[in-house]
Amino acid sequence: MRSDTLEVTASARLYGDTHILWLAMPASYQAAKPGQFVMAYIGEHTDPLTGRALSIHRTRAGAQGPEFALLFDVVGRGTDWLARREQGDAVRIVGPLGRGFEPQPRVQRMLLVGGGIGCAPLIWLADRLTTEGREVTLLLGGRTAAQIFPPSLLPPDVEVIVTTEDGSLGRRGLVTAPFTELLPWCDELFTCGPPAMFEALHGLLRQSGLRKPAQALFEQTMVCGMGICYSCAIFPRRGGVRLVCHDGPMFDLRDIY
Ligand SMILES: Cc1cc2nc3c(=O)[nH]c(=O)nc-3n(C[C@H](O)[C@H](O)[C@H](O)COP(=O)(O)OP(=O)(O)OC[C@H]3O[C@@H](n4cnc5c(N)ncnc54)[C@H](O)[C@@H]3O)c2cc1C
Ligand code: FES
Repeated sequence: MRSDTLEVTASARLYGDTHILWLAMPASYQAAKPGQFVMAYIGEHTDPLTGRALSIHRTRAGAQGPEFALLFDVVGRGTDWLARREQGDAVRIVGPLGRGFEPQPRVQRMLLVGGGIGCAPLIWLADRLTTEGREVTLLLGGRTAAQIFPPSLLPPDVEVIVTTEDGSLGRRGLVTAPFTELLPWCDELFTCGPPAMFEALHGLLRQSGLRKPAQALFEQTMVCGMGICYSCAIFPRRGGVRLVCHDGPMFDLRDIY
């Protein structure tokens, strides 16, 4: 983990209120894994002092060298500032941080479940898994069509199932419906999204009686991003405390609920 001032190579509103920012990727990110995150420091000086945690969304070979992207909803001061960065601007980034997804080596059928902007780290995971020749089904859920990552931007081998609560795109309802149908099919599942979705998925997993490995990426409020302030503490069901920034953000769903 290190601090770098990185050049913005591209910036765009990708869909709805969701923005993509491409940054020049330092060599130290070559070993980064899907599910890891960075702390992006906003503003030109030290106000505000704290960074914003954002997952590494994707990587690509840019014209001037490798790049990585952040995909984020504009929800407050930090994400608004980031969305206004333009090509050639600089952003201070600390990373890569945390423990990312750890797919088992010899399993084939991967079910990925993204709620809203929780899709951000799953896209890179889908890129990686399809490159490795695994079967990937990605469930994308949102309240409305404006919250759904464009399926056309995914590798063609990824099977995408979209659900929206208002029925404006894909199946009307929640991701839990296709999740229940696909649970017997998959070997392993990976998810990122709101805590209510994690609880629902965990409940369905328990009801099914199927012992499928389930890795979830927790997005707790973070201040330091490096194990100092305890703002990101979560409390696993068997007791104790875990820091999302240091011990996670990936946890086994069953260890937490
Ligand atoms: C590991 C991790 C990965 C994340 N990845 C993404 C991503 O890929 N895309 C994305 O859109 N969002 C992601 N988030 C949430 C993102 O950090 C917040 O949306 C962002 O910090 C909001 O900053 P803001 O200044 O715009 O909003 P404000 O509400 O003004 O933020 C004020 C403060 O609250 C903290 N904060 C507010 N909401 C959150 C939140 N949901 N999670 C963590 N801290 C929060 C910020 O760090 C900041 O210090 C992630 C969070 C974590 C912990
Ligand atoms: S964000 Fe400070 S300890 Fe995790």
